[in-house]
Amino acid sequence: MIYEIRDLHLSLPDMTRKPLLGATPRIEILKGLSFDVPKGAVLGIVGGSGSGKSTLGRAMLRLLEPTGGQIKFKGIDITHMNENQLRGMRQQFQMIFQDPMSSLNPRRRVGGIIAGPLRLHGVENLPAKVNEALDMVGLPTTFARRYPHELSGGQRQRVGIARAIALRPDFILADEIVSGLDVSSQAQVLNLLADLVRELGLSLAFISHDLSVIRRLCSRVLILHKGEIVEEGETTELFESPKAAYTKELLAAIPLPDPYQKWDV
Ligand SMILES: Nc1ncnc2c1ncn2[C@@H]1O[C@H](COP(=O)(O)OP(=O)(O)O)[C@@H](O)[C@H]1O
Ligand SMILES: [Mg+2]
Repeated sequence: MIYEIRDLHLSLPDMTRKPLLGATPRIEILKGLSFDVPKGAVLGIVGGSGSGKSTLGRAMLRLLEPTGGQIKFKGIDITHMNENQLRGMRQQFQMIFQDPMSSLNPRRRVGGIIAGPLRLHGVENLPAKVNEALDMVGLPTTFARRYPHELSGGQRQRVGIARAIALRPDFILADEIVSGLDVSSQAQVLNLLADLVRELGLSLAFISHDLSVIRRLCSRVLILHKGEIVEEGETTELFESPKAAYTKELLAAIPLPDPYQKWDV
């Protein structure tokens, strides 16, 4: 297993409410989640806005510390590891962000952006590694000298993917990465991601509120609602015979005709 997650709880200080007798009230965002991510799986995490998808992703990458339960990554308990202990593990799990325009430093060239994490982890022969990463995401190596604003949205998201895979992680978390793209760039980025998962033997968690995207990309799906898992299972099965009322509601809301039907993922 890549991930084994048991009874995961996470609460944060609730900044929207007044401190009560000096103590900031806490809001429980994840309410006891349990699931596994098998090696090589593409797990779709679906749910409405505010259901806790990003919080779950950030907990899995230990950008947040759980307040209860357990997260095991490749059999190692990372639930309460400190930054020092996590340093040696971070290259094994990487993230692709929603909005590459704000997650890519506008003052750095693409080459420098991709080299950043490699340098941080002491990788040598940086230019060759950068070229290799660009090649893997289907961008010409001459793009290393460009700035993010000189690229299209789809190209920027490829740079985000190149940066994530350059370290050859075992797991990648993609949080709403195609939401800002037009339909044809979406399809291209998702096909690329599916190819990389296959070629590199990656495991992927793909957060999206778009069920038609999930259906084509993911082998398993987890449906989140108000910080709880309402349903989890194999994609085909879940789409063909949803059990939870909330899942049925989501499925009924998929727009038709399906604009993604021509994908070859
Ligand atoms: N730092 C925070 N402090 C308080 N509440 C937060 C914080 N971050 C997120 N939340 C709340 O937690 C819930 C889940 O947020 P999030 O994980 O971003 O949901 P999603 O990604 O599914 O839209 C939301 O209700 C949000 O308002
Ligand atoms: Mg989110």
